[in-house]
Amino acid sequence: MSQGLLVSAYLISALLFVMSLAGLSRQESAKTGSLYGMVGMAVAVLATLGHAATEGLTLITLLMMAGAAIGLYLAKKVEMTEMPQLVAILNGFGGLAAVLIGFSSAIEAINLRAAPIVGKFIVELSPTEQLIHSIEIFIGIIIGAITFSGSVVACLKLNGSINSRPASLPGGHWANLAVIAAAILMGVVYVQQDSILALVVMTALAFVFGITLVMGIGGADMPVVVSMLNAYSGIAAAATGFMLGNNLLIITGAMVGSSGAILSYLMCAAMNRSFISVILGGFGTESGTVVSDGEQGEHVEINVEDTAELLKNASSVIITPGYGMAVAQAQHPLRELVNKLRAQNIKVRFGIHPVAGRLPGHMNVLLAEAKVPYDIVEEMDELNDDFTETDVVLVIGANDTVNPAASEDPGSPIAGMPVLKVWEAARVVVFKRSMATGYAGVQNPLFFKENARMLFGDAHDTVEGILKQF
Ligand code: TAP
Repeated sequence: MSQGLLVSAYLISALLFVMSLAGLSRQESAKTGSLYGMVGMAVAVLATLGHAATEGLTLITLLMMAGAAIGLYLAKKVEMTEMPQLVAILNGFGGLAAVLIGFSSAIEAINLRAAPIVGKFIVELSPTEQLIHSIEIFIGIIIGAITFSGSVVACLKLNGSINSRPASLPGGHWANLAVIAAAILMGVVYVQQDSILALVVMTALAFVFGITLVMGIGGADMPVVVSMLNAYSGIAAAATGFMLGNNLLIITGAMVGSSGAILSYLMCAAMNRSFISVILGGFGTESGTVVSDGEQGEHVEINVEDTAELLKNASSVIITPGYGMAVAQAQHPLRELVNKLRAQNIKVRFGIHPVAGRLPGHMNVLLAEAKVPYDIVEEMDELNDDFTETDVVLVIGANDTVNPAASEDPGSPIAGMPVLKVWEAARVVVFKRSMATGYAGVQNPLFFKENARMLFGDAHDTVEGILKQF
């Protein structure tokens, strides 16, 4: 394939990626958006393989087949509840790829300068261009290494292999700052002296920084961390694009980097956190270490029969799902319950907290999968003032996202995070299995409020039980 054809194919891919992002921004068009993304990637891969300058086709094809097989296996095997870990580790692989490509470019550049081969990219560069090339390698590797080790820690925290509470180096932020400053210094030595040793030391320090950065971030702030690492992986990919002189990689990396940064910013706004604190790491540590999980009074239980009775006598109901709905896969019986209530002219809506579940849009995906109509699924801001006029709220496996301590207790690790004000309704029924805390590890005063009732059991079973009463 000629250079002209390659550029045209890359342009088509870039357009398809833009259309994909636009499609993914709304539930109704998300499937088409995904399709555009897949076609765009297929065009990009085929064009790259077909280009005359691509060498080692057999090896590339074999490796791609192995990668595709692993990807297919993971996609089939992974549970919806394990998706955030998968996203985190995939971000990490993007970072690791940037590190490996960076080293290969650095070694190739040094070898070519020692023994120039006419026609090779690097020999045609002027000294200024060579300097810029070294800076690209430095940026790609340092961000890639931070992304990789940070993503591994995020993945381990999300799947519970390591404690999700914040843990800092002795010296806290200053120790982190010293590590990253030393890494940057080594990067500068590499750029000035072409020293692979300096590059290796820089990479090792960046790996350490990625670990300490994410270790310092508390569990409740993990969603922001995952999207931030996603943004980092985009920046690393864009830097790799500059290293390789590949325009499509630059465009795609820039899109991933900026969309990840925008998502991080929006999530910070939703949780009332400072974006800058997240970027600097150690986010949530100031208040996140005080965890109170002791009981705060008497809770009152309710059974499925009485819950069904409450619902039959209600005229307005709001359902606020959380991570427990995903664990129980309760969205399907819930949809049936919604149909039954609506058939009795009861107004039913879903209230979705921006960080309910374990990944952005988690609840929306599950409800869409169960074919819950989009028009009754509302965001927190749309219905948070309506709880005062609501007869019954069903809290299905949600905890942190409906915790009044966020607004009532300034010492709480989740203080300041906007939450669904479910306690303002006439009656709240909380579906969960025990009095255990949610992801942030803090007890929930909602459970002890006068108008709250606890319906214990797996949410799938309890919703099924209620359905039988209709
Ligand atoms: P959580 O606060 O994690 O609470 C989930 C609740 O579900 C728990 O109280 C648990 O209680 C209950 N539960 C679990 N399995 C259940 C089952 N089978 N049946 C019934 N209940 C079940 O959930 P949330 O309110 O959705 O809040 C999300 C939290 O995760 C936030 O802290 C958020 O910051 C964090 N987070 C979010 C994301 C994103 S991007 N959304 C990513 C990572 C972390 P029992 O064990 O007693 O049943």
